[in-house]
Amino acid sequence: MSGPEEKTAKAAKNAKCPDSTAGKQEQQQTAATRLLKQTTGSIPRSDAEYLLMHLLAVKRHELYTGTPVSPAQSRRFSRMVATARTGKPVQYIVRSAPFLDLDLYVDQRVLIPRPETEELVIRALGRLGSVPNRPALVVDYGTGSGCIAIALARRLADARLIAVDASKSALAVALRNVQACHLGRRVRLVHARNLDVPTLRRLRGRVDLLISNPPYVPSARIAILNRRVREHEPRLSLDGGPKGTSIVGMLLEQGPRLLRPGGLLAVEIDSSHGRFVRRLAPTAEVEKDLAGRVRYVFLRRNT
Ligand SMILES: C[S@@+](CC[C@H](N)C(=O)[O-])C[C@H]1O[C@@H](n2cnc3c(N)ncnc32)[C@H](O)[C@@H]1O
Repeated sequence: MSGPEEKTAKAAKNAKCPDSTAGKQEQQQTAATRLLKQTTGSIPRSDAEYLLMHLLAVKRHELYTGTPVSPAQSRRFSRMVATARTGKPVQYIVRSAPFLDLDLYVDQRVLIPRPETEELVIRALGRLGSVPNRPALVVDYGTGSGCIAIALARRLADARLIAVDASKSALAVALRNVQACHLGRRVRLVHARNLDVPTLRRLRGRVDLLISNPPYVPSARIAILNRRVREHEPRLSLDGGPKGTSIVGMLLEQGPRLLRPGGLLAVEIDSSHGRFVRRLAPTAEVEKDLAGRVRYVFLRRNT
C-alpha cells in the first residue's frame, strides 16, 4: 500500500473514537438538550451552553451525553436565562470567566478578561527573554480581575508581581483570585492612579516587565459600544479619555523609567492608536492581533 491509501489506513489506526454508547446517548434528547432547546431565540446558544455548563459543573460535550438535571437546577437555569435576556453578560451571571488555563472569579467590579489579553500575555512571555540571575520583577498596571498578574505568576517561577489598579473594588476582586490561586506571597496589590507613587518609584530601573491592558476606548465611542459592554462593564475599565490614549501615553512616556536596561514594556492598545504610539515612541514595535487589527505595543529599554 502506498500514497493516499497508506495515509488513510494510518489515520484510521491513529483515530480515537469514543465507544459507541456515547453515540446512542447523543441521539436521545437529554434533559440538558431539552433545556437548551427551550432557550432558542431568546439568548445565543453559546451563552445558554455556558450557563448550563457552569450550573451543572460539566464540560460542554457532557451537556449532550445524558448529564442528569434536577428540577431545582432546571428552575435555576430558567432564572439565569431570564437574567441573560436583560443583557447581563453570562460571565457575570455565573461569576466566572476563563483566562488561559484559569477560571477566575469576576463580577461587575471588573472587566471580563478578553482573548486579546491572553494573547498579550503570551506575546510578552515570548519576548521577555532571560532575566538576570534572579526572579523576575513584573508590574501589571490596571490589573482588574488580576488575570494578567496571576497568569504570569504561574508561568514565571518565583517572579514577584506588583498588580496596580485605580479601583479599590477591582482590587478586592483581584485579591480574591490571587488568594484562590495561592499567590498571596508573590502578587502584591497596590492602589494607584499613576506611576508616580512611592511603591512604584522605589522600583525605578529594576522592573523586567511592565505590562498593561489599560482602559483605551476613546470616551465618545463608549456610547456606541455593544450594550452588554456599555451597560455592565465598569466605565473606569473602558474609558481611556478623549482619544483613548490617556493611560497608554503615560505608560509610554513614564513606563521606561521603571524598567531595568533590557526590560520590556507591553501594552494592549486600541486599533486607532498606531500613529499615536509611533509618534511618541518611534522605537516601539506595534503589532496586530489575530483579527489583523493593531492591538499591541512593545518597547524595550535599551540603556
Ligand atoms: C481594560 S481593564 C483591564 C483589566 C485586566 N487587566 C484585564 O485585562 O482584564 C483596565 C483596568 O485599569 C484600571 N484603571 C483605570 N484607570 C486607571 C488608572 N489611572 N490607574 C490605574 N488603573 C486604572 C481599571 O479600574 C481597570 O481595572
